[in-house]
Amino acid sequence: MIKESGSANETVAFASEFAAELKKGDIVRLHGEIGVGKTVFVRGVAEHFGCAEDVCSPTFAIMNIYGPSQTEDALPIYHFDLYRFENEEEIYDAGLDEFLGGDGISLVEWPELIKNYPAERVFDVTIEKDSAMGESYRRIIIDKR
Ligand SMILES: Nc1ncnc2c1ncn2[C@@H]1O[C@H](COP(=O)(O)OP(=O)(O)OP(=O)(O)O)[C@@H](O)[C@H]1O
Ligand SMILES: [Mg+2]
Repeated sequence: MIKESGSANETVAFASEFAAELKKGDIVRLHGEIGVGKTVFVRGVAEHFGCAEDVCSPTFAIMNIYGPSQTEDALPIYHFDLYRFENEEEIYDAGLDEFLGGDGISLVEWPELIKNYPAERVFDVTIEKDSAMGESYRRIIIDKR
């Protein structure tokens, strides 16, 4: 699936629509350069689950957990940023793999270091800029494993 976005708000709205498809245990890997809009996409997913106001970049925290909010059947959202890790070992030493593919939905920025993602359903979201199309243009490509 390919979607074109002309603004951060449009990316949030699209991600929120996409999130309706997500189920417990799903993993979403977010690909794309620094500042392309991966965290913005996470905000859209969190919005669908009613906890968008909490979303911020976990670059310094390595993982944020959002929700579940008021409703009992809401899912926790695990938002990872693996940018600062140098190898897969460090990620396991930090204990992050305990959350992946578990009782919630996992969204992973800079996901490339982990070789095997432990989930039945893994989505790859790739966000690209195109300088010819202007500053706020993004192409969002979604594939399901
Ligand atoms: N169409 C668009 N979709 C998403 N973000 C956009 C768009 N147009 C402009 N932006 C801006 O691009 C920036 C994206 O920042 P964001 O923190 O989401 O990037 P990131 O991919 O998470 O970067 P990092 O790798 O540093 O975590 C925001 O400032 C956002 O407002
Ligand atoms: Mg980010």
